[in-house]
Amino acid sequence: MTIAPKTAPPTHGPRHVAIIMDGNGRWAQQRGRPRLFGHQAGARRVKEIVRACPDLGVTHLTIFAFSTENWKRTQAEVSGLMTLFRRYIRAEARGLVREGVRVRFIGDRIRLEPALVAMMDELEAMTAGNSVVNLTVALNYGGRDEVARATRRLAREVAAGRLDPEAVDAETLARFLDTHVLPDPDLVIRTSGEARISNFLLWQSAYAEYDFIDTLWPDFTTADFAACVGRFAGRDRRFGAAPG
Ligand code: FPP
Repeated sequence: MTIAPKTAPPTHGPRHVAIIMDGNGRWAQQRGRPRLFGHQAGARRVKEIVRACPDLGVTHLTIFAFSTENWKRTQAEVSGLMTLFRRYIRAEARGLVREGVRVRFIGDRIRLEPALVAMMDELEAMTAGNSVVNLTVALNYGGRDEVARATRRLAREVAAGRLDPEAVDAETLARFLDTHVLPDPDLVIRTSGEARISNFLLWQSAYAEYDFIDTLWPDFTTADFAACVGRFAGRDRRFGAAPG
């Protein structure tokens, strides 16, 4: 069984949607529950949104699961989130394979627990043959950190004499980013009423459309997702050119 589109996808909708899943903590707080309760509810939403992609013509979905700044949270919340990621991978791996989802992780793995990194590597390998939806999970990810790591790798190539510094342009640098195999996002959604980028896909979102919506992530439904995709279709993207 796959989750291939049941209907013809819209032709001018976003192919790559990136989401800043914000508001889990407030959602839990409103219910008098610990923050982790909100993250658990948020994880359930991820599954629904991934499943909704094919019918909406979305081939690439990138989600911000943990930022390079999220280590500043309490130790209890950080370790709760890490446990949640491990559980999620364990529980969802088979379904993701079956449903044709290819999973990739972006971000710096160096600070993540080896057990989690091993599971991430395994899930990437298990789903490598899939192509219905390309799900990219940003984990210990920061846009500036990614550009710095890419620059370090690029500088090593220059130092080794394999790359001419005069030949370095934007495309060269993009080849060293974590996202080098992905198209740029067309649409970036942030939930929970905050209108910030928070270091997410800084380089890649140069021409993305943004949709900031008030709904808290655990309340974000597939209907909300479809509405964001629909609003995108009505926008005039010019990539720096004059109106036609
Ligand atoms: C932001 O809400 C959310 C996070 C930092 C974590 C996102 C993680 C999930 C949705 C869990 C599952 C993800 C996967 C891939 C299984 P917040 O805590 O900043 O909320 P607040 O602004 O209301 O405090």
